Amino acid sequence: MYAVIATDFNTEPRLAELPVPEPGPGEVLVRLAAAGVNPFDSKVVEGILKGQVEHAFPMVLGADGAGIVELTGPGVTAFAPGDRVFGQFMDIERGRGSYAEYAVAPAEGKLALLPEELPYDLAAAIPTACAGAHDFVAGTGVGSGDTLLINGASGGVGQVAIQLADAKDVRVLATTPPDTADYLRELGAVETYDFTAGPVSRQVRAAHPDGIDAVLDLFSGGTGETGEIADVLRPGGTVVSSNTAVDPEAMAARGLRGLNLYGAATPETLDLLAEAVRREELKVHIDHRAGLAEAWDALERLRLGKARGKTVLTVQDRW
Ligand SMILES: NC(=O)c1ccc[n+]([C@@H]2O[C@H](COP(=O)([O-])OP(=O)(O)OC[C@H]3O[C@@H](n4cnc5c(N)ncnc54)[C@H](OP(=O)(O)O)[C@@H]3O)[C@@H](O)[C@H]2O)c1
Repeated sequence: MYAVIATDFNTEPRLAELPVPEPGPGEVLVRLAAAGVNPFDSKVVEGILKGQVEHAFPMVLGADGAGIVELTGPGVTAFAPGDRVFGQFMDIERGRGSYAEYAVAPAEGKLALLPEELPYDLAAAIPTACAGAHDFVAGTGVGSGDTLLINGASGGVGQVAIQLADAKDVRVLATTPPDTADYLRELGAVETYDFTAGPVSRQVRAAHPDGIDAVLDLFSGGTGETGEIADVLRPGGTVVSSNTAVDPEAMAARGLRGLNLYGAATPETLDLLAEAVRREELKVHIDHRAGLAEAWDALERLRLGKARGKTVLTVQDRW
């Protein structure tokens, strides 16, 4: 089979031929139709988890994917060959991922059945970004009438977080470059702030001098970096980071709540999100499609800030 592999940290991934993996006990082999692309996929190659997890090379890149169950390993009862499924396939310790024609995943905990009407490309765009958005918005604790600033709202996770927060009757403030402001308002943001026009914290504080309830920071990268954006919070407000950029103790010392969260694409969350997409209550915008051979270019495009939604790799377009 063809797969996109990295042979070591900080090497340029390339298309290679590998044997089709075999599903072990409790695992399924999925013939993939589409793979979803996330910034984390290239961060793994850059070594973001080096020293924390064993890495097996050559490593197939990618977490998210959708396709048809080809084979089930011993003991699998949740799925049968022919089932349409989607979910997460990344297993760094075994060098496994979704940028491939076939991928193996545990039958329990990582995959969900795909509703009939939902196409593979949309399904592949859901797991990491949408489940992350779901868990991060929940983690902020916001509810009806609260005000939430989403920093990094213009990206794949942010666009979904806006809609999920809006559905809870939260007033959503969104940071954006000028060209996506109108679209983010369509999705449910009530105010947008142009991050290219100066520090967002100053702009939001000027509009909300008493402070707002919560911040979801999808942009800040280094530990403690959320310190400045947290200036927009009222006393007791909450800041959640998707990139471990919160220093919880520093936040507590300022009378704020700070959390670093990871999205968990559980089957239950995947079901809920797929159903919302199927009913067109949740819009997942695919703004870039590429083939497996262009996977690295697609990741570079994300790194260069050219993404305006989700990127999906078409692995197999004959079904
Ligand atoms: N912890 C988890 O479980 C988890 C799950 C999902 C995602 N994440 C992380 O969350 C982050 C967001 O993911 P994503 O998929 O949404 O990424 P993305 O699609 O690349 O979106 C990032 C967005 O941030 C915008 N941005 C750039 N500079 C900014 C600035 N100065 N202020 C505010 N926004 C700015 C970008 O705009 P331009 O394109 O114009 O640069 C882009 O629209 C990534 O770091 C990802 O790794 C973590």
